[in-house]
Amino acid sequence: MAEIVGAYFTSHVPGIGGAIQRGDQQTPYWKPFFDGFPPVREWLAAVRPDIAVVFSNDHGLNFFLDTMPTFAVGAAAEYRNADEGWGLPLYKPVKGHPALSWHVIEQLVADEFDPVTCQAMLVDHAIAIPLELAWPDVTEWPVKLVPIGINTVQHPLPSARRCLALGRSVHRALSSWGGDERIVVIGTGGLSHQLDGERAGFMNPDFDRFCLDHLAADPDALTHLSVHDIVRLAGTQGVEVLNWIAARGALGPGAVEIHRNYHLPISNTAAATMLLEPA
Ligand code: DHB
Ligand code: FE
Repeated sequence: MAEIVGAYFTSHVPGIGGAIQRGDQQTPYWKPFFDGFPPVREWLAAVRPDIAVVFSNDHGLNFFLDTMPTFAVGAAAEYRNADEGWGLPLYKPVKGHPALSWHVIEQLVADEFDPVTCQAMLVDHAIAIPLELAWPDVTEWPVKLVPIGINTVQHPLPSARRCLALGRSVHRALSSWGGDERIVVIGTGGLSHQLDGERAGFMNPDFDRFCLDHLAADPDALTHLSVHDIVRLAGTQGVEVLNWIAARGALGPGAVEIHRNYHLPISNTAAATMLLEPA
């Protein structure tokens, strides 16, 4: 029986990649953010996952505004990293787990989700940065990847309720997977940020705290908000919290918080990191 060892959540600001490249982790600007990661690395070393099911959003690399799937599941044997224009270093390719990807897809379709299935997919900073933060300096990623993309970019976006239900469907798939792997669920992006328009630079610590405080014990509390409420409260790109909500669903019914870090600003983003374990 496969085991879901827990869930790791983090913001995925591209500037983090530049900070890592320059070795800026201990500078006053970056230290409060990077200080959130030693506990993440220690926890990962202890729970030893060999598969990562990652909920994130594509930023124009696989899908652009002309073709925008609401939900997309990767089913590739390997995922190359590419940079959609930030000037970031390219990270190592990530091995896939096509059999588990198809098992997840089968469950999602059985549960009446209709994802786009991607037998070729690139990964952008939304996956590469969280992996690099979790496992710096490894020569090969220790996990195989099952990437699940959620449209947080072009409206209409899926509701928070729908994303939590999607995650719960993925949980059913992981629970019925016959392998003996150890699985970590990852949610990336957020928390509050807005990159464009009149409110560029908008962040909302009160709303972020509400999300962080409810994620483990009462994720349904986050689903009473409409997407437009979330945009208003978290910013146009703060809707990436939908990735966190879906990942929380995939962890399973009960969860306990074992680590949290929150710091703003990192670039234009209120950055958060969290670890949850199954209750
Ligand atoms: C920033 C944050 C993001 O989530 C992203 O995808 C791109 C940029 C930022 O704050 O700079
Ligand atoms: Fe983003």
